[in-house]
Amino acid sequence: MVEPAERRNFYGRVHGKTLRAAQKTYLAEDLEALRLKGVTPAENPARMPLDLAPFAGRPLWLEIGFGGGEHMVHMAAENPAIHLIGAEPFVNGIAMLLGRIRAAGVSNLAIHPGDVRDLFDVLPDGVVRKVFLNYPDPWPKARHHRRRFVTAGYLAALARVTAPGAEFRVATDIPDYVRQTLEQVPPAGFLLERQAGPGGAWDDWLSTRYEQKALREGRLPHYLTFRRS
Ligand SMILES: C[S@@+](CC[C@H](N)C(=O)[O-])C[C@H]1O[C@@H](n2cnc3c(N)ncnc32)[C@H](O)[C@@H]1O
Repeated sequence: MVEPAERRNFYGRVHGKTLRAAQKTYLAEDLEALRLKGVTPAENPARMPLDLAPFAGRPLWLEIGFGGGEHMVHMAAENPAIHLIGAEPFVNGIAMLLGRIRAAGVSNLAIHPGDVRDLFDVLPDGVVRKVFLNYPDPWPKARHHRRRFVTAGYLAALARVTAPGAEFRVATDIPDYVRQTLEQVPPAGFLLERQAGPGGAWDDWLSTRYEQKALREGRLPHYLTFRRS
């Protein structure tokens, strides 16, 4: 299982380059309204399930590690009848997302500016209908593979919060990440539905910053689709 919140380590980056003045404004003015309340252990020490009533019965989708938020805003704009929650601890990424939300004028999304595991703790069972995991941190060294998202603890938590029939999409440029995904995801309760390489992205895919970087550096995309059984 995922470790209890107080014993969790986060190994990624939380801060990057100095934020531009406009990005500081987005964080100061927009984040609080879009932030999901009651997710952090500080705000919800008893880890009570989130009240999803504000989403008014709309299908709930989840993007894990949204980076600069371009894919998330695209999906929210293309699917106005759903509500999309994004989790991302990297402040510069959150600021980029907020800028994109202002530009696109979308309102059917919510942000958890932190570790997705804190969100898993408080999401009720079986509420998420679609999940995007785009270019998760690769952790290339063998001794770090257990930090990857596609490991038993994260996947058990994901399986608990997803509805039967939910779609789980994984994009990665790392062949060994594909191997581990194919090995670990099915036993967690998801059937492989589709596996594609370069040129085989989903019809509604929007290429992300990380994918563009991978392509520039000669790494090839892989697109995997699973269905929650
Ligand atoms: C390689 S980047 C890809 C970003 C984006 N999805 C893209 O395709 O451009 C992986 C992202 O996952 C985020 N991440 C890593 N661990 C996470 C966690 N436990 N919860 C939420 N996000 C996480 C990182 O902060 C980082 O922004």
